Amino acid sequence: MENKLTVKDIKVRGQNILVRTDYNVPIKDGKITDDLRIRESLPTLEFLKKKGARRIIIISHLGRPGGQKDIKLSLAPVAERLKELIPDHKVKFIDDVSGPDVEEAVQKTPVGGILVLENLRFFRGEKENSAEFAREIAECTHASVFVQDGFAVIHRAHASTSAITTEMPSVAGLLLEKEITDLEKVSKNPKKPFLVIIGGAKVDDKQPLIDKFADIADNIAVGGRIAAEGYTTQLPNVYVAEDFSDGNKQDIGEKSTEKILDFVKNAKTVLWNGTLGKAEDEEFSKSSKKVAETIGRSNGITSVICGGDTTGFVENLMKTEKDLKYSLISTGGGAALEFLIGASLPGLEALDDK
Ligand code: 3PG
Repeated sequence: MENKLTVKDIKVRGQNILVRTDYNVPIKDGKITDDLRIRESLPTLEFLKKKGARRIIIISHLGRPGGQKDIKLSLAPVAERLKELIPDHKVKFIDDVSGPDVEEAVQKTPVGGILVLENLRFFRGEKENSAEFAREIAECTHASVFVQDGFAVIHRAHASTSAITTEMPSVAGLLLEKEITDLEKVSKNPKKPFLVIIGGAKVDDKQPLIDKFADIADNIAVGGRIAAEGYTTQLPNVYVAEDFSDGNKQDIGEKSTEKILDFVKNAKTVLWNGTLGKAEDEEFSKSSKKVAETIGRSNGITSVICGGDTTGFVENLMKTEKDLKYSLISTGGGAALEFLIGASLPGLEALDDK
């Protein structure tokens, strides 16, 4: 991180600043169930306002709409939440990302105000890393600096993480800087035994990571959809959940949970990404709850919780079980894992060097 420019290194006053956040937050029945990623974006927004930014234009994705408009994945509720959190910032939302309407909305945004654009992934150009799509956004927002603050998405080479950086000077935001600094601290010489717990729903993303972590970790425990879909491996230090709580395999069973708890009790460092079952339904949250409680009550271990579903689950639990403690709750899921195995992060590499 030391080699990349950050918001602290640039002139902000009087400029329109384009900020990429990761507002890919869990939404159930139209309600945001965990707003960690929104709250964690505030320091950069506050910093930019304090330094006299003319306007802040926020771009983000939500879910995987596949290049098509899907009203259930609109960023409108996220903009509403942002407005509640920072009422002084005059947050506005527009249901598009480029073109004359966006240009007009930008011009109408008052000095010091924030405009949130619609979900980038409603447009194919985003995932295709289209230079034209990035240019359209740059042109209609009249932004003169791009700030990458979406730590959770920097493992993707998309228009809003890669192509956009060729349009204007591009620097890191405060969240991106903080996440990398914190993860570097916990990952440098992790105390052994080092346990990695992988669950969640994004099966394709995680399978290759499990294999790579096998070189670094003493034990890897696999639950969630990956286990339910029958992931197998020859690696001796990888344990895949072997029983499930129900016929649809929506949560892992007692035997597997106990086995994972034994790993936790022996570990000095635990990295957890992905709940072990469909934990947003209480019925299927039993294994994740036990694991979260055991990690959160283990004294003297370094624990890192990462990824949208896991952080949301753990944060909700902490509201009622106040004694739970974790060393780091990261906004990044796949991005944190990729960073920890030393993979290249296109969204970070694309930023301007010092
Ligand atoms: C995440 O939640 O890990 C990021 O927002 C990236 O989302 P993606 O896996 O759909 O690219």
